[in-house]
Amino acid sequence: MIETLDNTNRSEAVDLIGEAFRAHPFLPPDPSGSKAKLLAKAILDGFAAAPDAQLFGIRGEDTRLDCAAFVYNAAHEPRGLTLALFLVRMIRIAGWRMSRTFAQVLSEEPEVKEQRLELMLLGTRSSSQKLGLGRIMIRHILGFAKSRGYQSVVLGVAKETPAFGFYQREGFVVEKEIALPIMPLCLLRRPLAEQETRDQSATDIEKPPKHVQDIVE
Ligand SMILES: CC(C)(COP(=O)(O)OP(=O)(O)OC[C@H]1O[C@@H](n2cnc3c(N)ncnc32)[C@H](O)[C@@H]1OP(=O)(O)O)[C@@H](O)C(=O)NCCC(=O)NCCS
Repeated sequence: MIETLDNTNRSEAVDLIGEAFRAHPFLPPDPSGSKAKLLAKAILDGFAAAPDAQLFGIRGEDTRLDCAAFVYNAAHEPRGLTLALFLVRMIRIAGWRMSRTFAQVLSEEPEVKEQRLELMLLGTRSSSQKLGLGRIMIRHILGFAKSRGYQSVVLGVAKETPAFGFYQREGFVVEKEIALPIMPLCLLRRPLAEQETRDQSATDIEKPPKHVQDIVE
């Protein structure tokens, strides 16, 4: 069952995201996951005031959080002290160059004028990856976005990571590619309008494996 998490589950979600992202190529090597945890905190604090800011989670049989995702209305930009704190934390985590690119990406106007939901974080505990939890979470988020009247879900993802192919198989298409020193960052968009998603219908009816259906039902 997918849960909408609140502040009482926040540190659990931060720990999980820290674990899932600890070997992410955009972060400096850090087996403890402390940088990735700081990243999760920076994002959750920086965008907490955004419309439709929501943290979702999926628990395993032992009630441990195994997958978490954070979304918000992509038109929102943090301001004032919140923005300053966010940028300081980003520089500490990823360095000045990466943070500057990140800030540019966030402040850019999208080419397509529409209501967009941003998927800012999605992580599955490494021991629970490849079980279908990420796919269930993505589909839940697409449903959430549709129910709130959004026209698309957007996100940024490092190219040449497992997540890139995963999002493409879920109907996301590359809207823009930004050159970064490590590897390109791709901005992906998943349209939600009937016409634009018709080609995705075959993927949409695929079911997750049985043991994962049992977790979410
Ligand atoms: C990307 C991520 C969220 C996918 O979560 P998940 O619960 O493993 O996803 P699923 O089990 O639904 O698998 C989705 C697809 O990704 C593939 N995949 C997931 N993890 C993988 C890995 N480490 N290596 C290769 N493929 C992987 C699965 O095989 C599956 O492929 P398919 O579409 O051909 O069936 C998870 O790998 C993760 O947390 N990665 C680290 C953080 C990250 O990169 N997040 C995304 C950037 S915002």
